[in-house]
Amino acid sequence: MKLKRFAKWSALTLLVVGFIWFQIAYWTSTNDCNAPVKGEPMTAIEVCEYGAAGLQLADVAKPTPTDNQVLVRVQAASLNPADGHMIRGSAIGRLFGGLRKPRQTAFGIDFAGTIEAVGKNVTELKAGDEVFGTSKGTLAEYVCASERASVTKPSNITFEQAGCVGVAALTALQGLRDHGKIAPGDNVLINGASGGVGTFAVQIAKAFGAEVSAVCSTRNVELVRSLGADHVIDYTKGDFTETAERYDILFDNVGNHSFEERRRILKPDGVCVLVGIGGAGWQPGKGKRIVGALTALLQARWKTEQKFVGFIAKTKKDDLAVLRDLMQEGKVTPVIDREYPLEQSARALAYLEEGRARGKVVVTVNPEAQRAAVAQYQ
Ligand SMILES: NC(=O)c1ccc[n+]([C@@H]2O[C@H](COP(=O)([O-])OP(=O)(O)OC[C@H]3O[C@@H](n4cnc5c(N)ncnc54)[C@H](OP(=O)(O)O)[C@@H]3O)[C@@H](O)[C@H]2O)c1
Repeated sequence: MKLKRFAKWSALTLLVVGFIWFQIAYWTSTNDCNAPVKGEPMTAIEVCEYGAAGLQLADVAKPTPTDNQVLVRVQAASLNPADGHMIRGSAIGRLFGGLRKPRQTAFGIDFAGTIEAVGKNVTELKAGDEVFGTSKGTLAEYVCASERASVTKPSNITFEQAGCVGVAALTALQGLRDHGKIAPGDNVLINGASGGVGTFAVQIAKAFGAEVSAVCSTRNVELVRSLGADHVIDYTKGDFTETAERYDILFDNVGNHSFEERRRILKPDGVCVLVGIGGAGWQPGKGKRIVGALTALLQARWKTEQKFVGFIAKTKKDDLAVLRDLMQEGKVTPVIDREYPLEQSARALAYLEEGRARGKVVVTVNPEAQRAAVAQYQ
């Protein structure tokens, strides 16, 4: 009897303490938005509140590079589905990113620009170099990036194109090469071929000597064909899992088919690379696609010799260099859907989040490129 009472009171105490802790944690969760700028100011996008509307143009302190970093004057940056997920304010996102307000206020990952200064341990890059890569807070006039996450820009592409490369092209390269083990002559199907990752994946698969089938909707058929796809499947007219074709690699940006459907179109030793759950944003049905990906990973362990692999792309300097060489050789050209000036970053994100981008959505940062981007929508 005593034990029962003890357990009851313990549970009640834990509940009350948990509730009070949550209230304190929630109401003290804050960020440094609107704090006075210490040092030299620069213009940047800050995420002060959760949601795309929380993006605001602000004066923040210009960053100083550490010994292993370069200071880049940003010319262009691009957006990725992950940018939207990070500021959506979902329950899980808030647990990691700040309960009431986003702790991390800097926004954007991909960048291209010109190096203004380098840290004392930087050996391969110097002031004046035109570079691209990834960092944190790239929607800003300046960003500090690790030397290991930046490479020189090929001379035959623009800053706007270079600013598209980061996450999307690394995902396409690592997904096809490291996880799909792509080889010349492979029969590769790319589901979701017209978005940021897909437009890179089609070109990279071709550059590796594969026979490429690309899945997209009617309005993107010509775009995807122009990128080199050998066969284009319009998903509004037919289901790619209902053909007799068998693939070495199914590079799946969408995840809108069951485990068995995907298995059926793979060769006995084929690989399904689980890349994503469709275009950016959170539309109905996405939760089901996440569950589908997780169960496919589990089922593949005991049901088949065919491989199902999931992965998160990582920034590696060597891979950025591979992408640079592919662009320099003219084998890969980033596809830009729309360009927005820095102050219209919220509009840029809202457009991306519709999930229908054709290639990449770019944010231009330097004044000349910004003027061109503004003129586009006037
Ligand atoms: N694993 C990783 O490390 C990693 C890294 C980056 C991205 N991702 C994920 O990969 C996915 C693609 O990213 P992204 O940057 O390419 O996104 P995105 O640019 O927003 O993709 C938009 C494209 O998706 C196409 N699409 C939407 N529904 C489709 C369907 N049912 N079938 C075929 N195409 C469809 C759209 O074409 P239509 O308008 O013609 O339908 C549009 O062109 C996302 O889910 C993203 O979260 C994963």
